[in-house]
Amino acid sequence: MLSEGGAQRIDARTLDALRPTIATLSAAHRYRDSFAVEHQERAAELAVAIGVQLGLGSQRLEVLRLSAIVHDIGKIAVPAEILGKPGPLSDVEYAVVKTHCAIGYDILRHLHAPLPIAEIAYQHHERLDGSGYPRGLSGEGILLEARILAVADMFDAMTSHRAYRSGLSADFVLGELHAKAGRELDADAVEACRYVSLTGSLVRSGMQVVRPASAADANGGT
Ligand SMILES: [Fe+2]
Repeated sequence: MLSEGGAQRIDARTLDALRPTIATLSAAHRYRDSFAVEHQERAAELAVAIGVQLGLGSQRLEVLRLSAIVHDIGKIAVPAEILGKPGPLSDVEYAVVKTHCAIGYDILRHLHAPLPIAEIAYQHHERLDGSGYPRGLSGEGILLEARILAVADMFDAMTSHRAYRSGLSADFVLGELHAKAGRELDADAVEACRYVSLTGSLVRSGMQVVRPASAADANGGT
């Protein structure tokens, strides 16, 4: 794992080699669903800002950013009529949407790097209390990066416009996140998200930042 300054420091060359691959995956996904890609880019920026507040080192932040940029890549296997449905999903449709975590893992596991990018994407819908999916992981069984991404993902998904509703206000969404803090969501990550949102301190990691923009995701970030 990625211990800061620890035994398994990340080789900067590994990250350099990964960036074009991540960008390629993102570019391909954009042709299928630009909203999803824009959501991932905004979530990545917010996740990094949260990570900065939590004291993650620069290399670990970059792994978080790269993971976040492709965390929903598995949605390329979800039918467009489900992703763009202008209303609530049926149980069956929601079950199909949920497959995007495992499909994303199946795609990203081919990245040739000793980094948990596939695993972070796999875990981004897991919840501290075990109520998440796909594996029902709980507590520290969920990577910190995935716990951070869960908060950023939910914040961006809820504040974004959807086919079936307008974007919710940041104040309202922060209240929703606060209500889940310590139960479903990492309390420190929620607090950091609140700080970043209220202060506007979207601090970039100092590394390449891929462009942000508009909407995607349902149910607090599918
Ligand atoms: Fe997702």
